[in-house]
Amino acid sequence: MPSYPEFTGRSIVITGAAQGIGAVTAAAFAKEHARVALLDIDIAGAQAVAKEISSAGGRALAVSTNVTDEKSVAAAVANVVAEFGGIDVLVNCAGGYGRLATVEDMPLDEWDNTIALNLRSVFLMSRAVIPHLKKSQAGRIISVASISGRTVTAASSPAYGSAKAAVIQLTRFLAHQLGPDGITANAIAPITTLTPRVRALRTEEDIARIAAQVPLRRLAVSEDHSNAMLFLASDAAAYINGVVLDVNGGRVMM
Ligand SMILES: NC(=O)c1ccc[n+]([C@@H]2O[C@H](COP(=O)([O-])OP(=O)(O)OC[C@H]3O[C@@H](n4cnc5c(N)ncnc54)[C@H](O)[C@@H]3O)[C@@H](O)[C@H]2O)c1
Repeated sequence: MPSYPEFTGRSIVITGAAQGIGAVTAAAFAKEHARVALLDIDIAGAQAVAKEISSAGGRALAVSTNVTDEKSVAAAVANVVAEFGGIDVLVNCAGGYGRLATVEDMPLDEWDNTIALNLRSVFLMSRAVIPHLKKSQAGRIISVASISGRTVTAASSPAYGSAKAAVIQLTRFLAHQLGPDGITANAIAPITTLTPRVRALRTEEDIARIAAQVPLRRLAVSEDHSNAMLFLASDAAAYINGVVLDVNGGRVMM
């Protein structure tokens, strides 16, 4: 496993960190001696993850946040800065969608809510954190997009896929506009990932069917993504800016 001594003492904000990829990523940064702030609407879940990190000797702060709400985001960022003194890395991980859908059967509120959770959230969080990243020596924004934002798959939602494609384009704008301040912005695009939530939703047959389409013949695990994000946050990735890293086992190559 990689080790990044430069993370010691850095302040990392991770949204959607109460479970799944966000929780694993928070624990991975904490293991590298970073201070991690877990922002989630599920405060009990975020506190449980923070407690586990603290028990393992890490420094973690759980902050109740609705990433789609401007005031909640502002309060959360202020809370982290008061506690940690600054922010070096933002990981935009909160996201998702409720059900497989078509454009024809999608109510407007489902469209709006999905776009808000996956895209507005990245805009609000990034905008609130930028002034703090500008004071860092190693500012980074890493956003979790999806294979659904790279290509069209049957098992997805048009609102979700469209929002994730827009997250990739927003990442490029951030990379372009913040580069002069020494801040990089990159995205990762995961394939279906065997988080506890996904395992509960999918049958063994579903998992085998999707895995058969992947050159590496397995689905991703959260650590595949946390490894990619730790690299993008590291000093070794200082010149990587505006990319989307497809963490998909070769399922879609572009
Ligand atoms: N798991 C996959 O198969 C997969 C595949 C591709 C991309 N992704 C993306 O990876 C990211 C993480 O996915 P996951 O499956 O680990 O997620 P998850 O559904 O397990 O966890 C999402 C977290 O976000 C939190 N959240 C939801 N709404 C929120 C809000 N308004 N404000 C703050 N927090 C909120 C939830 O409480 C939860 O803790 C998402 O952006 C998802 O779209 C996941």
